[in-house]
Amino acid sequence: MNERSLSDWELVYHEWNPEEQPTREALLTLGNGYFATRGAVEESPAGGPHYPGTYLAGGFNRAESEIGGKVIENEDLVNWPNWLPLTFRCEGGEWFDLAGVELLDYTHRLDLYRGVMHRRIRFRDRADREFELETRRIVHMDDPHIAAISWVVTPLNWSGAVEIRSAIDGRVTNNGVARYRDLNGRHLEVEETGHVGEEAVFLTARTLQSRIRMAQAIRTRVWIDDEPAALERRTQSEQNRISQSLSLVAEKNKPVRVEKVLSLYTSRDLAISEPAFEAFEGIRHAADFEALLERHQQAWRRLWRRADLELAGEECIPAQPVLRLHLFHLLQTASMHSTRRDVSIPARGLHGEGYRGHIFWDELFTFPYFNLRLPALTQALLLYRYERLHWARRAAKEAGYKGAMFPWQSGSDGREESQVLHLNPESGRWIPDNSHTQRHVNAAIAYNVWQYFQATDDMEFLSFYGAEMLIEIAQFWASIATYNPDRERYEIRGVMGPDEFHTRYPDREELGLDNNAYTNVMAAWVLKTTCAMLNMLGEDRKAELLQLLDVSPEDLLRWQDISERMFVPFQTSGLISQFEGWDSLEELDWDRLREKHGDIQRLDRILEAEGRDMNHYKATKQADVLMLFFLFSAEELSEIFSGLGYDFDPACIPENVRYYLDRTSHGSSLSRVVHAWVLARTNRERSWDLFQDALASDLDDIQGGTTKEGIHLGAMAGTVDLMQRCYTGIEMRDGILWLNPCLPKELKELNFCVHYRWHWLHIHLDHETMTVSFEKGWSCAARIGFAGEVYEMCAGDQKRFSLNGEKSS
Ligand code: BGC
Repeated sequence: MNERSLSDWELVYHEWNPEEQPTREALLTLGNGYFATRGAVEESPAGGPHYPGTYLAGGFNRAESEIGGKVIENEDLVNWPNWLPLTFRCEGGEWFDLAGVELLDYTHRLDLYRGVMHRRIRFRDRADREFELETRRIVHMDDPHIAAISWVVTPLNWSGAVEIRSAIDGRVTNNGVARYRDLNGRHLEVEETGHVGEEAVFLTARTLQSRIRMAQAIRTRVWIDDEPAALERRTQSEQNRISQSLSLVAEKNKPVRVEKVLSLYTSRDLAISEPAFEAFEGIRHAADFEALLERHQQAWRRLWRRADLELAGEECIPAQPVLRLHLFHLLQTASMHSTRRDVSIPARGLHGEGYRGHIFWDELFTFPYFNLRLPALTQALLLYRYERLHWARRAAKEAGYKGAMFPWQSGSDGREESQVLHLNPESGRWIPDNSHTQRHVNAAIAYNVWQYFQATDDMEFLSFYGAEMLIEIAQFWASIATYNPDRERYEIRGVMGPDEFHTRYPDREELGLDNNAYTNVMAAWVLKTTCAMLNMLGEDRKAELLQLLDVSPEDLLRWQDISERMFVPFQTSGLISQFEGWDSLEELDWDRLREKHGDIQRLDRILEAEGRDMNHYKATKQADVLMLFFLFSAEELSEIFSGLGYDFDPACIPENVRYYLDRTSHGSSLSRVVHAWVLARTNRERSWDLFQDALASDLDDIQGGTTKEGIHLGAMAGTVDLMQRCYTGIEMRDGILWLNPCLPKELKELNFCVHYRWHWLHIHLDHETMTVSFEKGWSCAARIGFAGEVYEMCAGDQKRFSLNGEKSS
């Protein structure tokens, strides 16, 4: 039997495999948008293949470390006390642990539809006692403060005394990423442990710097034959850990059912008195496992009704469950429980410690899905940025700019969290990390605001929060742009584009590159869109905003001017140049490199280890220029370029794509999604291959060991969005939902619902027709565009568009 199988709604591992366990823990993580716990086994503490991490959305702490005589500070998403520990032993023998028994049967299963993690194990211990163990775990999707475990242990050939141990372990550190192990991973101190009544114990802990407090209370109950078991309960308080031992007598073939329920509150919660008090109340009122499970499953059923998409076609059968797995993790990282919590989506989910739980431009890949499914959630996530305008303003000012300059990596308060040094595992050297010069993150935030507005028509949000962000970002771009009288154009110098391989010119001391095409075009787009937005808001609100944000009439003229005269570099061949000077870099021998090193995704690390500098070469880590074709349709791009006074023939897109694809190592999981997207209409085969690779990113851990540090949520969401927007050609522009489908041949049919401007639309797409049904809605007509025509549609309307030239109906 295969070690792993994936069916419509289930991911199953059929064997215990310690080497793979860290990756499985990430992929089997359970969460609810408020907190998440990795799919680690209950019976083993951290160590060897086990890393039981629990992460709170927005639960950050800063700590200092000394590297090479230099003190550096990092902010991390904290690993909180481990609420999982549960094990048992017979007659004073060894505590059950996978390493200490002979496994006769083992399955580890994730039920995506219900949000339940299961294990079924049969084992024999050293005294030849055989047991069957069935475990289930949930992190509650209805009550975000609850999680629960159910264990059913059946002695198969033996009866006797059993001791069950259930604990909360506060002896945890951030130790999940090997590269960070030289850094200080101590973020917590345990404050208190104790009892809550007889059946429950608690532990409270506090982060050392940010002073976030968390209280966990656990209640452990045991049943035999559906009756509470006769048992003796003892509580042990060791240092930073509290446990209860439950002693009872088990009988051969009689299942012993153990239930452990967790109530978790923190000082970041709204509407609470104090975390420990709330956790006590929570555990006192918590139902038993089956009742909790019922409510949890209902919540997941409701979620899936909004979230799912269905594919049909022989060749896409394997894709369906992977897309559901991706959706599952997306919905566990950000759910309605993330709203009003002042959080956004960490690039690696709440699934591990990679990138320290920081928030990057990856929102650009995750928000589009939510815009069309749970727009209230995108709104909340955009507010995370709004609340951090103060730091962005400070950062802009300190760098000598106006407006707001958002950080490349964002954490608790919105200051720049990019690390100063990073370790190259290939060479063992600590090297300066210059990725913070990726100012394009500011364009991504503006783009996200605009996309949210296009999807929702939420004028309230736009005129207050959205407008402030757009204006402050526009002001930043206008102040970082400088006028070059020789060219009679504006330029942006000294920044990095999305391709992180290039940080500076080979012969220049200063950081950054000049006129990164992606950055420049995006900046011009932000300025143009912000001017248009101000005109939409009407004179009164416009005047208020300009006064509030100190924008002068001269500023507005400058914005307009830059949006029409931004410089975009082109290569001598006429292709868009990634940045100015790209033409004079050296080519790499990609075939030879592949031959020599095999996996060259992280070419930067390989070359650094050889003492070479990536900056010399025409090689990119990920889509950079091509991001433009990913974010804008050919029509929109033509409009943008002609607004800038450049000739742009969409026919040049495939040539640009081919050129950069040949020079890209896909060192970021985002890259394959973008390439699959931009090739979808011109090179369908290559696009489908890249889509397949993107699907495998985490499931097969194709970056060779990064998934264990957390999933790659941008790529996960991107694969779903390929179905949702790319293959349907959904584009939201000027208050119209344009459709321009292009279904790969491997896909026979696509079915899903989207939420557009207060309507629920069902979309059915096959190779002959696209049918749009306005199923439910609370607003007047919305406009749908197809093949140059615009149709007004209301709740109850249906339109069938023919894709082979027949008349639509
Ligand atoms: C990529 C970035 C991305 C980050 C977090 C990096 O490897 O180069 O574009 O934002 O990972 O996912």
